[in-house]
Amino acid sequence: MITPNPARRKWLNGAFVLACAGLLVFLYLAPEETTSPLPVDDLHQEFHAMESKKEADKLCVQCHSQGGESPLPENHPDPYRCLFCHKR
Ligand code: HEC
Ligand code: HEC
Repeated sequence: MITPNPARRKWLNGAFVLACAGLLVFLYLAPEETTSPLPVDDLHQEFHAMESKKEADKLCVQCHSQGGESPLPENHPDPYRCLFCHKR
């Protein structure tokens, strides 16, 4: 039968908590620091005013798509829910 060593177990628990905290901080900071917010200009004014982010998201691709006024960069992540990443 395996009897867990209490000291070792305590250490593992501590390491686990630290790893989780580190991951949370990473997830929280990563998109915040790099992703440009929704611009505040005439083009984007109406989207700041819109109640529903979901409705606004649908309209972004009219200009931000291949062949549009301002296409997305090549390496852009999956372009759904624009305002989830590009904060107002
Ligand atoms: C009428 C066309 C049009 C629509 C609709 C539109 N955009 Fe734009 N967007 C532009 C143009 C043109 C630019 C580049 C010039 C500028 O910054 O205004 C731009 C720039 C941007 C940028 C880059 C800002 C930067 O720092 O370079 C982001 C992010 C962006 N738009 C997000 C959005 C999102 C999210 C939506 C939908 C809620 C949206 N746009 C809807 C035309 C549009
Ligand atoms: C998963 C997060 C995410 C989603 C969802 C997302 N984007 Fe982005 N977008 C980024 C990142 C990251 C960049 C490149 C870094 C930056 O913004 O500077 C970027 C860049 C851009 C740019 C280029 C201008 C710039 O600042 O480099 C435009 C325009 C843009 N996104 C529009 C959109 C539109 C329109 C949608 C919805 C159809 C959308 N994005 C959805 C994360 C996202």
